[in-house]
Amino acid sequence: MSKRDHVFTCQACGAIWPKWTGKCEACGEWNTLVEEAARPVVPGALAAPMGKKGKALAFVELTGEAEPPARLASGISEFDRVCGGGLVPASAILIGGDPGVGKSTLLLQVAAALGRGGRKVAYVTGEEAEAQVQERARRLKAADAPVHLAAETDLRKILDGLKALKPDVVIVDSIQTVWADGVEAAPGTVAQVRACAHELVRFAKKSGAIVILVGHVTKDGQIAGPRVVEHLVDAVIYFEGERGMPFRILRAVKNRFGPTDEIGVFEMIDQGLVETPNPSALFLGASGERPSGAAVFAGVEGSRPVLVEIQALAAPTAYGTPRRAVVGWDSARLAMILAVLETRCGLSFSGRDVYLSVAGGLRITEPAADLAVAAALISALADAPLPKHCVVFGEVALSGEVRPAGRSDLRLKEAAKLGFEQAYAPPQKKGATAAGVKVRQIGHIADLAGLIGADG
Ligand code: TYD
Ligand code: MG
Repeated sequence: MSKRDHVFTCQACGAIWPKWTGKCEACGEWNTLVEEAARPVVPGALAAPMGKKGKALAFVELTGEAEPPARLASGISEFDRVCGGGLVPASAILIGGDPGVGKSTLLLQVAAALGRGGRKVAYVTGEEAEAQVQERARRLKAADAPVHLAAETDLRKILDGLKALKPDVVIVDSIQTVWADGVEAAPGTVAQVRACAHELVRFAKKSGAIVILVGHVTKDGQIAGPRVVEHLVDAVIYFEGERGMPFRILRAVKNRFGPTDEIGVFEMIDQGLVETPNPSALFLGASGERPSGAAVFAGVEGSRPVLVEIQALAAPTAYGTPRRAVVGWDSARLAMILAVLETRCGLSFSGRDVYLSVAGGLRITEPAADLAVAAALISALADAPLPKHCVVFGEVALSGEVRPAGRSDLRLKEAAKLGFEQAYAPPQKKGATAAGVKVRQIGHIADLAGLIGADG
């Protein structure tokens, strides 16, 4: 036996230390070190032992004959689209999200839809009792769907059960509750989660089943402890939503079989999650007159245009340093736009607290939102509303120049569809127009300030 039969593993980053310390020197987190056996079960060792003589490694050409994998669509199109057009056999997916956001609800609905479509679906829950899941299924009107339900947390029993059942799709809710008896650590720790996820992913690859793992996320958006799982699976999908808002957004952050910029939009009602095929209507709220400080951004999420209202408020600062607070956008980007407005347009926000919020709980990452944010800020400062029925998009450079944004056609078409008549947009290449929408070309951010009538 070696001198050290126990080590301390950081639950946040997975770093291993010989001694306990309050702070993990690798990631800087406090109180994350947990004592574990020095040699946790080697991933894979729980399955059948390897044959003594392995097959020789066979190399193949890149130009394989392999067909693109047949996808298994659930019929819940918002879910299928985020997965890249359906689930891919022999793949593993991690669905992360805050507790209570609706992961179990979504996956029970997906399981029911797949079951009704003739697939063999297993739903393994470690979080709830069977009766609780049955009760939820009744509420979701999914109780009649052929889904194989089990409440179990012992990995060995789960794997044995799955090998006997031979399902097409397996849902494990959640990976943090599953434990393997060979691993000397509590369920939910890095060692357990890593070992269990590894075994379940192996099961997917060997049996051809689709394995969907549910993972809880910590406040700062990390899948609690087991970031390690993200590397093991083929796709990582987050389910997000603001507290108190009925909207839920499904977003792929990693996908080996599809794009990662697609979003799926759902609304949580009493009968579960319903799809929202037209998210613009949802994020825009009541149409018509908008107050000063509000600008409608014509955005694109994945393959879909989404119109969303951006709201800004510039209130006089009460004490010393002015506050800047952002919901749904990047705060560093806000600081940049404020600096550009101050330097290039001579507007002053220095005595103002600035608040910026994206309506409906959506989070925007597109640089094309810059001009819409600038419009909202100028409008808030000047207390002058933007023209009625006007959308805004375009990227703002540090020089104040407005750069073209991709897919202008798509943005303008969506604006026209929702009754907008005008767009503040970067100079367009020929052809990027839509019937009914007049494009006001904005080449420099100072032009925008002039249009909104703010002169400092
Ligand atoms: P749940 O799926 O249990 O969340 P998670 O698995 O991510 O922890 O969802 C819990 C919340 O959803 C709960 O607060 C109640 C709400 N809910 C509804 O509003 N309608 C429904 O039909 C269901 C099943 C849940
Ligand atoms: Mg749950």
